[in-house]
Amino acid sequence: MTTGPLSTPPSEARNRPENPWWVDAVIYQVYPRSFADADGDGMGDLAGVMQQLPYLEQLGVDAIWLSPFYVSPQRDGGYDVADYRDVDPLFGTLEDAEALLEAAHGAGLRVIVDLVPNHTSSAHPWFTEALAADPATEAGRAARDRYMFRPGQGPGGAQPPNNWQSTFGGPAWTRTVDPHGTPGDWYLHLFDSSQPDLNWDNPGVRDEFEDILRFWLDRGVDGFRVDVAHGLVKAEGLPDHGIRPGMITDSGEDVSGHAEENPGDHAHPVPYHDQEGVHAVYRDWNQVLAEYSHEPVMVAEAWVSPLERLFRYVRPGEMHQAFNFTFLLAGWDAVRLSDAITVSLEEAGKVGAPNTWVLSNHDTVRHASRFGLSDPTRYPNGLGAEDEQPDEALGWRRARAAAMIELGLPGSAYLYQGDELGLPEHTTLDDSLRQDPTFVRTAGAEKGRDGCRVPMPWHAEAPGFGFTLGTDEGYDAGPAAGTATAPWLPQPESFGAYAADRQVDVEGSTFELYRELLGVRGELDLGTGAFAWSGLHSPELGVLAFTVTTGGGQHGHDLDSGERVPEQVVLVLANLGETAVDVPEDDAAAIFSHHEALQDGQLMPDSAAWFLKR
Ligand code: GLC
Repeated sequence: MTTGPLSTPPSEARNRPENPWWVDAVIYQVYPRSFADADGDGMGDLAGVMQQLPYLEQLGVDAIWLSPFYVSPQRDGGYDVADYRDVDPLFGTLEDAEALLEAAHGAGLRVIVDLVPNHTSSAHPWFTEALAADPATEAGRAARDRYMFRPGQGPGGAQPPNNWQSTFGGPAWTRTVDPHGTPGDWYLHLFDSSQPDLNWDNPGVRDEFEDILRFWLDRGVDGFRVDVAHGLVKAEGLPDHGIRPGMITDSGEDVSGHAEENPGDHAHPVPYHDQEGVHAVYRDWNQVLAEYSHEPVMVAEAWVSPLERLFRYVRPGEMHQAFNFTFLLAGWDAVRLSDAITVSLEEAGKVGAPNTWVLSNHDTVRHASRFGLSDPTRYPNGLGAEDEQPDEALGWRRARAAAMIELGLPGSAYLYQGDELGLPEHTTLDDSLRQDPTFVRTAGAEKGRDGCRVPMPWHAEAPGFGFTLGTDEGYDAGPAAGTATAPWLPQPESFGAYAADRQVDVEGSTFELYRELLGVRGELDLGTGAFAWSGLHSPELGVLAFTVTTGGGQHGHDLDSGERVPEQVVLVLANLGETAVDVPEDDAAAIFSHHEALQDGQLMPDSAAWFLKR
């Protein structure tokens, strides 16, 4: 909601015109299974993404990141890839992917695809070959050397080679049966047993992935989100480590477990996370990307801590970005957020990389729901009907305010589909419908990630909230009532109120808030602005306050005319505390996180504002 005119400079000025596009890009994550279904089978597809490009254009993002759409048995939502160079029939064809790329580029949107190098699917031809091969032969050994096969321990090799645990629960090893029918070696899977880990010491594996990079780069993709980027290389000798790795835990910052065991000691990290050897892989890939002139980007999904370890992935000559999960894990807490921002900016500065900011993704409980929990710093792996139910209205208010913090910060921001609608988690999904392997592998102790993967609501009145588009024109033209199969996961009834058609062009909606923030961010080049904590900043009282300055100085020149752009200062003020706070009086224009955020000249709790200072 805007009060007063928010004047912006008259040009497309860039603070540093030599920057590549991704330095300040806002990147929208599409989870193809759940974004939009064009063919009516209840599962999202690439044609559905294509139809909704105008929606993304309207929102004003710079790029999309597509979670995996490759050939896959879908045992882990497509993060189990059987063919890295083709599209699963569920989502369409390779031609559909090429058409989507072209259409997205035509709409001014870059496209990042997901790369899953830590493991393949057990249905990948390499793995089926390895299983079928006789390990006593040279050919068999060569086939198995692409993966992590090891003999078991104890009598008859009946015990796994070591005590590693799968991230999804249960042991990280599964025993094979030799072609003659006798129990054989074990193979490693840091995730589901359908996701065998590759052996990154094998040069053939390295060559294959460089070739996969080129396959997609040749088709014009603008970059890769690298799955489990910290996991590829394992410590020599595979030493025991009995603690289950925590990609998704309640345990706070130290997701890799480093701190519990060896505080500050990175000479002995978890033997399958963050090994020094992974960096050589990314230095090689950096060279591959550098062969292309369209500035492709690599972004690391690396659950490592502390942040100093994360920023090692974005040293010059390696990756370009890394997801900043410390910001995400800070929750709705001013002190934790303040620390996360300060440390992130410091560490990024040391390696000269831009920061990324992210609040939710397909692995997390949506922040609109996390922030409605009694402890809004909690980070559960899924929520079910018997768990504490979030306060939806409170979560909604906080999620909108959090977006103002995220999008105000300099660097690049990642949005997860539905963030822009203020979409909550499905917190009462029937257990019988759950598909995340975590649910089964933990015997239901963890609900898993299905609740954040529920299909998007496009049309409040349509069956399945218009997830199945039914027409070539998208949700505006209305649904093909009665013709569609139900969405692959049911949506909660409350999703109707969040549907896109209830929000696009509707004043005060979350979509319009995001659109306005993205517009101002782009016009003022906040993404490359200079950050400073403001004098109003007092996290112990729940107040976050920072300024971002753009234009002016030596950098503020219009790209076309070369004329100087006046300095602009945006003050971002967020109230995470329990009492209202005064807002500065000298600010001419402001955007507030919701219509009741400003009362009697004060910013209410669970609210935020942007003030433009001239
Ligand atoms: C990443 C993905 C997650 C997947 C896992 C295994 O963390 O984000 O969805 O389950 O890797 O590939």
